[in-house]
Amino acid sequence: MFFKKLQDRTMKYRVGICQFQPRLLQVTRNLRQLEIMLRGIRADLIVLPELATSGYVFNNQDEVNGIAEDGIAGPTACLLKKLAHDNKTSYIAGFAEKEEDRIYNSAMLVNPSGEIFIYRKTHLFAEEKKWFQPGDTGFHIFSTQKNIKVGIMVCFDWIFPESARSLALQGAQIIAHPANLVLPWCQQAMLTRSLENRVYTITANRTGKESNGRKNLEFTGMSQITNPEGKIIHRMDKIEEGVYIAEIDPDSALDKKVTAWNDILADRRPELYINSSIEDR
Ligand code: ACM
Repeated sequence: MFFKKLQDRTMKYRVGICQFQPRLLQVTRNLRQLEIMLRGIRADLIVLPELATSGYVFNNQDEVNGIAEDGIAGPTACLLKKLAHDNKTSYIAGFAEKEEDRIYNSAMLVNPSGEIFIYRKTHLFAEEKKWFQPGDTGFHIFSTQKNIKVGIMVCFDWIFPESARSLALQGAQIIAHPANLVLPWCQQAMLTRSLENRVYTITANRTGKESNGRKNLEFTGMSQITNPEGKIIHRMDKIEEGVYIAEIDPDSALDKKVTAWNDILADRRPELYINSSIEDR
């Protein structure tokens, strides 16, 4: 009898979370710390926190104007382009984006080829509404290494299930989620976002306390990677700083069946979901 050797068809894709404590308004220092943390670490995709190079608890608009930068030519893009080229790794990082006189809470995807894609945070949280324009890009998916489809949402976007669902409907296999989380619910909620969309999620949260003399915030850390079954592949602790890399099979996120009878995207019935007379109230 002839036995054909079964090939291992599982795709190996290395993804990472980078958790650390940016220092408020110290962009050069934060870039230097990132460069040290990421040097020599090779993966397919590494996700960094929201506003990774500026810190978060701003005091006034002048401070935000002072750290906001161009998404293609600014210091964050320049460092990530260099690292992406040297480490053959794609990065997704949050930053304050300046476009003409508008400032957005954005995230950039930088591929080793040098291409850059930008997502602008849709759902601003608390005082962010004072500093930033609401994002105008909408939710899109982008190709990363090995042609894997990645969608981006930023921090508080998590509480709107439409964010992750929009990305899943467009074919996202991985949802990258830079974050500066302070409320206690997101990490657990992301297990449901993974499960209900059958995607991997990578939440890269910052850690530490930050104060501007007027306001103090403590960030929750616990950056994590979850799989399409809603399980945690890895969760960091609240205060550790570092990079964690896991190997995943993104093609498993293409299978949307939960039973032989149920496909979570094909079985949707959007014609019954929105009653416009209720929405308009
Ligand atoms: C948040 O959206 N930074 C909580």
